Amino acid sequence: MQLDSLIIGSQCWHYLPNGFSLSVSCLSFLCSLSGYHIILFLPFSFAEMLASNNLVTFDGLANSSAYHTFLLDEEKGRLVVGAKDHIFSFNLLNISKDYAQISWPASPTRRDECKWAGKDLSRECSNFIKVLQPFNQTHLYVCGTGAFHPVCSYLEVGKKPEDSVFRLEPHVENGRGKSPYDPKLLTASMLIDGELYAGTSADFMGRDFAIFRTLGKHHPIRTEQHDSRWLNDPRFVGVHLIPESDNPEDDKIYLFFRENAMDGEHVGKATHARIGQLCKNDLGGHRSLVNKWTTFLKARLICSVPGSNGIDTHFDELQDVFLMSTKDPKSPVIYAVFTTSSNIFKGSAVCMYSMTDIRRVFLGPYAHRDGPNYQWVPFQGRVPYPRPGTCPSKTFGGFDTTKDLPDEVVTFARSHPAMFNPVYPINNRPIIVKTDVDYQFTQIVVDKVEAEDGQYDVMFIGTDIGTILKVVSIPRGSWHDLEEVLLEEMTVFREPTAIKAMELSTKQQQLYLGSDIGVSQMPLHRCEVYGKACAECCLARDPYCAWDGTECSRYFPMAKRRTRRQDIRNGDPLTQCSDLQHHDELNGQMTLLDKTVYGVENSSTFLECNPKSQRALTYWQYQRSFDDHKQEIRSDERFIRTEQGLLIRTLHKKDSGIYLCQAVEHGFMQTLLKVTLEVIDTNRLEELLHHDEEAAASAPAQDLPSTPSHKLWYRDFLSLVNHPTLNSVDEFCEQVWKRERKHRKQKAHLVQQVQIHQQQQQQQQQKGVVNPHTHMHAQGLAAKWKHLQERQKGRNRRTHELERAPRSV
Ligand SMILES: *[C@@H]1O[C@H](CO)[C@@H](O)[C@H](O)[C@H]1NC(C)=O
Ligand SMILES: *[C@@H]1O[C@H](CO)[C@@H](O)[C@H](O)[C@H]1NC(C)=O
Ligand SMILES: *[C@@H]1O[C@H](CO)[C@@H](O)[C@H](O)[C@H]1NC(C)=O
Ligand SMILES: *[C@@H]1O[C@H](CO)[C@@H](O)[C@H](O)[C@H]1NC(C)=O
Repeated sequence: MQLDSLIIGSQCWHYLPNGFSLSVSCLSFLCSLSGYHIILFLPFSFAEMLASNNLVTFDGLANSSAYHTFLLDEEKGRLVVGAKDHIFSFNLLNISKDYAQISWPASPTRRDECKWAGKDLSRECSNFIKVLQPFNQTHLYVCGTGAFHPVCSYLEVGKKPEDSVFRLEPHVENGRGKSPYDPKLLTASMLIDGELYAGTSADFMGRDFAIFRTLGKHHPIRTEQHDSRWLNDPRFVGVHLIPESDNPEDDKIYLFFRENAMDGEHVGKATHARIGQLCKNDLGGHRSLVNKWTTFLKARLICSVPGSNGIDTHFDELQDVFLMSTKDPKSPVIYAVFTTSSNIFKGSAVCMYSMTDIRRVFLGPYAHRDGPNYQWVPFQGRVPYPRPGTCPSKTFGGFDTTKDLPDEVVTFARSHPAMFNPVYPINNRPIIVKTDVDYQFTQIVVDKVEAEDGQYDVMFIGTDIGTILKVVSIPRGSWHDLEEVLLEEMTVFREPTAIKAMELSTKQQQLYLGSDIGVSQMPLHRCEVYGKACAECCLARDPYCAWDGTECSRYFPMAKRRTRRQDIRNGDPLTQCSDLQHHDELNGQMTLLDKTVYGVENSSTFLECNPKSQRALTYWQYQRSFDDHKQEIRSDERFIRTEQGLLIRTLHKKDSGIYLCQAVEHGFMQTLLKVTLEVIDTNRLEELLHHDEEAAASAPAQDLPSTPSHKLWYRDFLSLVNHPTLNSVDEFCEQVWKRERKHRKQKAHLVQQVQIHQQQQQQQQQKGVVNPHTHMHAQGLAAKWKHLQERQKGRNRRTHELERAPRSV
């Protein structure tokens, strides 16, 4: 028998030339019925990414590594990358096309010195580029570790794209206070108005950490030395300028870092995430804090989730920050990526912070050590004027420069660099938490996307295993109830490697990624992977994509076209696509009223029937065959009537027949749907699956689409539906949800069951009794076991994540 369609619900079947499959919407639909909402995502392997033409890679030079320092220049259309002993300039259109490279190794003398100092020649005694900043219209400022002897220079890149200049000036400057000595350490730097702000370590031993301002016309300035209240073994991840008012005199520099908790701040050793602030126009103190910042303040950034035992789980290891601009340049939204410090508990989280909350903390109480136990308490005394941390400007009082600050202000600032209150994330909790996975987040960039029903922030999160997660945050009802939908998970490097740099070009609509082994480039959207049906496109909920009538493609808010179908907020294909579907079916000479649905014995099936009018009542009739009399179906244990259709649990062979869905409105009755249900028994299903496998095996590989194999989806689904212990949709959804985790257990269970049945059979045979049913059952299990094994081998499996939706059936 040729099985040509399997329909469960109207929009969940798919006909393909080399077989047929169930589309994603089917799972979603079934599960949303039982109060779940599926979050669907498709992991893409490296090979698939390459094959689909969605990934361009630069595999790195044999004598280089650590492609960690990125500078995106959208105007010139270039990505400048700093690595070990080299600087590259890539074409943003295609990084593998015409790139330029400069070799800038440390001198042999420096390398020898580095080796004599006990450092590893191959891993540490090279020039690792750590700073790449725009200096003026024609030059970049570039610094490297210089084999434990930091060096800086100027890199000529030309004024216009067509200049195609890429040349390092021979003149080399001392890089102390700009680049670290040790390549393992990070530097967060920013060059503004000819001055370089850098959070780094400034000595060979990697102990003297500071925030420096160098270059420019002023005397270099730094944080107080050897004072753990100021900085305590920090690791810097970002520097940003954020204006405080419309007056540039109030401009502040914010630094993001993690460091050891201050003495007495925490029992035992702990890491805290911090945000630090400085005034751009700080020139240091006059008598005290000479050439030191007088406006430095820091506050703790909290990102935690409440634990079941009442103790919060803190994500303290700040890894990366991204500032999402808003209409108000004074108030960007801060996205931060954290991991946990624990060796046992591996977890990552993303938290969002508002500038309002940050400013409130910096205007709040200073942390002060006092009392019998010498603890940190909020400072209650008189705060000198002008309040420490305020920039000298006309806006807030008559000081022109920090050199004019009263001594008591400088003295206070010196002993009170930390704020008492921490900064809590927006909504007091992370927007994403990932704990039961074997990877951690490393990087984040965020894109603002205009969609039909509003604006969405799409996050691209890099991991330590070379994958990118694309996540959209969707308000469920309000901003206080966000739902995170994982849209895609993609492998972007040949082998597992931590993603250390990430840049997003809105102009090119591309993402650029750096790791130890190379650089990769991928598009922000790949709408074509969401399948070939409106419902799939809609359910994908990718704000970049919409159904344009023929395919899932990039959505442009400007080109308003009525036919575009998109529903990010609800991902509801019924409202978006149902009329299209009727169209398609009519055009295809098929009437909506006649459908054949195949169900598998002992599993559940769902006959969808959704009257257009909300007021219409539906009722169902059954007839065994055409000329048989019709009888009304009443809800009972096995037949459940829902607003969307009829759910039949534990299908029996005798349920085969014709089902009529009737709508009644104002006494007017209309037949909406006629479904012929055919219940397939397990034996026959095995035959069909077998047939399917043979067909797949004989099909030439190039015939298979490079998008995930639909056949596999279908098989996954069937093996679940056919699971002998799954009698309700609820259990089915539960199963889908926990599948990945349960996979191994499930396998073990099946092996056990097969063994038990075999044993029973043997025993019965020994007793001279042959139970044909037991035999058949064991065979069925064996086949399932085979499927599970094959699925594991399958080159791409999808993972479905479920979340309880607020609505119930
Ligand atoms: C590394 O190898 C490339 C050729 O692949 C060469 O152009 C470059 O000069 C070498 N760099 C160093 C530092 O030796
Ligand atoms: C990028 O350039 C390489 C080398 O010229 C080419 O093989 C590849 O197809 C290009 N990729 C894209 C997406 O343009
Ligand atoms: C940019 O700075 C470099 C290095 O100091 C200098 O040689 C060059 O003339 C400057 N270019 C412009 C346009 O000011
Ligand atoms: C279906 O369930 C019934 C009752 O539990 C059982 O007797 C029968 O063997 C099952 N059929 C299959 C094919 O598993």
